Amino acid sequence: MADRAWTTVNPAGARRVVVTKELPGERWLALLAAADCRVEIAQGDEVIGEAELRAAIGDHCDAVIGQLTEGWSAEVLGALRAAGGAVYSQYAVGYDNVDVAAATRLHLPVGNTPGVLTETTAETAVALTFAAARRIAEGDRMMRAGAYRGWLPSMLLGNLLYRGTLGIVGAGRIGAAYARMMVEGHKMDLVYYDVRDSEELETYVTEYAAFLTAHGEQPVTCRRAMALPELLVTCDVVSIHATLTPETRHLIGAPELAAMKEEAVLVNASRGPLVDEAALVAHCRAHSRFRAGLDVYEREPAMAPGLAELDNVVVVPHLGSATTWTREGMATLAAANVVASLQRWPVWPAVSGRADVLPFLEDVRPPHAAPSIVNADALGLPRLVSQAQTKEDQQ
Ligand code: DGY
Repeated sequence: MADRAWTTVNPAGARRVVVTKELPGERWLALLAAADCRVEIAQGDEVIGEAELRAAIGDHCDAVIGQLTEGWSAEVLGALRAAGGAVYSQYAVGYDNVDVAAATRLHLPVGNTPGVLTETTAETAVALTFAAARRIAEGDRMMRAGAYRGWLPSMLLGNLLYRGTLGIVGAGRIGAAYARMMVEGHKMDLVYYDVRDSEELETYVTEYAAFLTAHGEQPVTCRRAMALPELLVTCDVVSIHATLTPETRHLIGAPELAAMKEEAVLVNASRGPLVDEAALVAHCRAHSRFRAGLDVYEREPAMAPGLAELDNVVVVPHLGSATTWTREGMATLAAANVVASLQRWPVWPAVSGRADVLPFLEDVRPPHAAPSIVNADALGLPRLVSQAQTKEDQQ
């Protein structure tokens, strides 16, 4: 703690907000300054450990904007509450690093940033799917090594995905967006596995199938698998979009990998521990035509021993949401959660997509509401019934 540099913005602000990493964009800072916040921003790339988080919170802190790489345990959240904290605002949509149950017991709202990552992360999953299926990283390495000696009929052959079968594990916002990109773009039949029916996705694919039929093309299909193995055995691509919980840890392990097709592609742009990485290494070693595209890792930032040596695996460093628009949007939503919690404004109606959060990103006078508080209902926080309501209230 003693060695870390901190930058302070709006030092005269009455409310103390600790931000554990520098964030992109300007709007988030303007929102906090307008709400009379003194913003203290940690410098440096190293992950801040729990002891340092507690020290940064100190004995007075109104809110924190924190990172998915940090451990927001009951103890750290308790320290925030004891310091007068009104909200912990996560700079991410996922919050498996936050003990939300403890936050709820402490009456501490936990914010997150849905809506701005959906298509961005889905695009990353699409990129990984094709990088793996079409051996893009291998080709890139070959070119750089000066090993390309000219076109050959059998060089670096991959898999055609067009009209194949796509499996998604988790049909939430990002899974559904990825599915639509793959189904519409590549006319893949869809199988999804989720704890609940995705009526919206099924309707979407059914209507798209009717469109294809009307254009004289073979329709696509969509069905829900009631058990994971049912999806694994039939799909050419399996992309994971599930939430990490104790129950979903190692959802894909050795038996699941063994159930997949010999030449299947596995993609993970959600959370690393959903896949047993050691089992994946063993499987990819033994099955050179099986491919994987990974954005996330079981013990991030480390990779399981052997993973980096496998040519049939494409690896990127948790880039799912890494576009300027999205990362600036995440900062704005994280700040808006802080401002609204400090002002005791209500929570925005549930966010289903990008359009729902645009008013926070673009309006000159953003809504007087918190974009997303994950434990709002458990805490009994008031929630707007419609987006129009805030406009009426603000007039
Ligand atoms: C999130 O927001 O949960 C993502 O993993 C960040 O890319």
